Amino acid sequence: MQKKESVLDKEQHRMRLFSPALLVSIGSGFITFLTNEYSVWQQWFFLIHIFSGVLVAIVFIPYLYAHIKRILGNRRLFVFITGIFAAFSLIGLIATGTYISILGQNEAQRWIYDWHILSSYLLLATLLFHILFHCFSVFNSKRGRQRVYFQSIPREVQRLSVFSLITTVICVFSLTALYASMYTGYLDQGVVQNYEYPYGAHPFRPSQTETLNQSFVDEKRIGGSFKCGSCHEEITKQWMASIHSQGASDVSYVKNVNLLAKKKRYFSDPIL
Ligand code: HEC
Repeated sequence: MQKKESVLDKEQHRMRLFSPALLVSIGSGFITFLTNEYSVWQQWFFLIHIFSGVLVAIVFIPYLYAHIKRILGNRRLFVFITGIFAAFSLIGLIATGTYISILGQNEAQRWIYDWHILSSYLLLATLLFHILFHCFSVFNSKRGRQRVYFQSIPREVQRLSVFSLITTVICVFSLTALYASMYTGYLDQGVVQNYEYPYGAHPFRPSQTETLNQSFVDEKRIGGSFKCGSCHEEITKQWMASIHSQGASDVSYVKNVNLLAKKKRYFSDPIL
């Protein structure tokens, strides 16, 4: 009897971290997945999703060990099968999530991201049935006696989990407001005053260069070469090895660009 108590204690103890982390990672994951826009609050949710996911990954195996140890010998086929599926779905989520967190998400490995999404739906469905079958069997077996549905998740842990989720949402919106108050925005205009337009209204003519607004864009909007390389890995390697990558550092080129910027005002931004 004493031993059983301590196994339950251990599971409850691990559930204290596992349950809030799982709830926050599921919540933040689905919020970013179901809202299809690129905004600051979404970026905060992404960050929280990664950290809560790491917590889930750390506590999952010790939790599962305690859970299995406690329920060993229970014969409830449907609870068992859905539990196994839920565990495998979570392992799939952790594996694909770890890959994406460390190596990033890219088009060539899109199937990893697709598996991450698929596993998350599988986890939700199997977890739901796992809990439903469990409740059903508790309801049937303990008729008349006092029923305890969630032994390993005491009320305070349930409260802690919901509290964590609500706190997360409040934090995200406070951080977004803070960011908005500090954000200076983009300055989409030429750096050179009195920029000349010898080829008509378009600032880049006679070049065929285009921008979305058909005018200058803040350089902060443009990623550097290494940023491009995070997706276009192979072509960036080839480019880095080529003399083309030296183009903008060529002394006579830099000199000419700077002269034009100064005298003719053709370039929006002199090269330093
Ligand atoms: C987040 C990933 C990502 C980043 C970062 C990125 N690209 Fe791309 N790029 C893509 C994808 C995906 C396509 C294919 C789009 C399509 O086919 O509709 C593409 C297509 C292109 C193409 C067209 C290639 C072709 O064969 O038609 C060029 C050129 C290009 N990118 C240049 C760049 C440059 C330059 C940068 C850096 C300033 C950059 N990309 C940054 C993902 C990225």
